[in-house]
Amino acid sequence: MTNREPERPLWEQLAAKSKLLPQGDRLQKVMARHGFGSRRVCEDIIAEGRVSVNDVVAELGRRIDISTDTVKVDGVEIGLQPGLVYYLLNKPVGVVTTASDPQGRPIVIDLVPSEPRVFSIGRLDVDTEGLLLLTNDGQLANHIAHPSHGVEKEYLAEVAGGEVSGGAIRRLRDGVELEDGVTAPAKVTQPTPGILRIVIHEGRNRQVRRMCEAVGHPVMRLVRTRIGPLSDRRLQPGQWRELTLPELRLLTEAVALVVQRYDQEQ
Ligand code: URA
Repeated sequence: MTNREPERPLWEQLAAKSKLLPQGDRLQKVMARHGFGSRRVCEDIIAEGRVSVNDVVAELGRRIDISTDTVKVDGVEIGLQPGLVYYLLNKPVGVVTTASDPQGRPIVIDLVPSEPRVFSIGRLDVDTEGLLLLTNDGQLANHIAHPSHGVEKEYLAEVAGGEVSGGAIRRLRDGVELEDGVTAPAKVTQPTPGILRIVIHEGRNRQVRRMCEAVGHPVMRLVRTRIGPLSDRRLQPGQWRELTLPELRLLTEAVALVVQRYDQEQ
């Protein structure tokens, strides 16, 4: 294994940024990232006195920390839209991510409340366990499915064949040739011999399994441990919970940043 320093995840960069700049981000910038229109439009909304921060009417130029300040536009907290729900589920092995299953296997939406109807953002194989987002927010789902390949996803993979060599780890990091093309660079570490922590942006079918197989270490157990800024070690397989508002805001920001970066690169 090499000692290459892994790139810092986006939400950490965000968090570090808000520590370096104790005042946080400008309100209009945050509002724009949360879908209230261009920065210019958001400045107008602020100037009209329609925005409050911690229940005090905000002034133009105000900076906020999205993870601690409460921002309301027209009295509605940003990040919260009436009727939208966001569940974080720890999917057990044996449950399928599709809306129905011809083979009669259990489906993920039966593990969460039936009303309002939700769908999963992204998929996990039937034999993969771990975190899955379910929501009725089509806009967030579209952003996460953006061609920039969305936010980071972290997996723990227990692989066959014992300790994985430094060379194999380098190949996983640099990109391995799969039948649908070379994989994008990944962050890969081996916390314990035979267990890999793999962070990818792409969401190709059975990608982690195929990557590991390509370097001679088929996966025996695969768990998704993080989606962007979201993780929860206490959530047991089959359990779900609603996202907290700070989590939802961090997720929205992480997604917006990925999309922004992608658009700038085009
Ligand atoms: N990679 C896989 O191989 N399977 C999953 O379910 C998710 C990522």
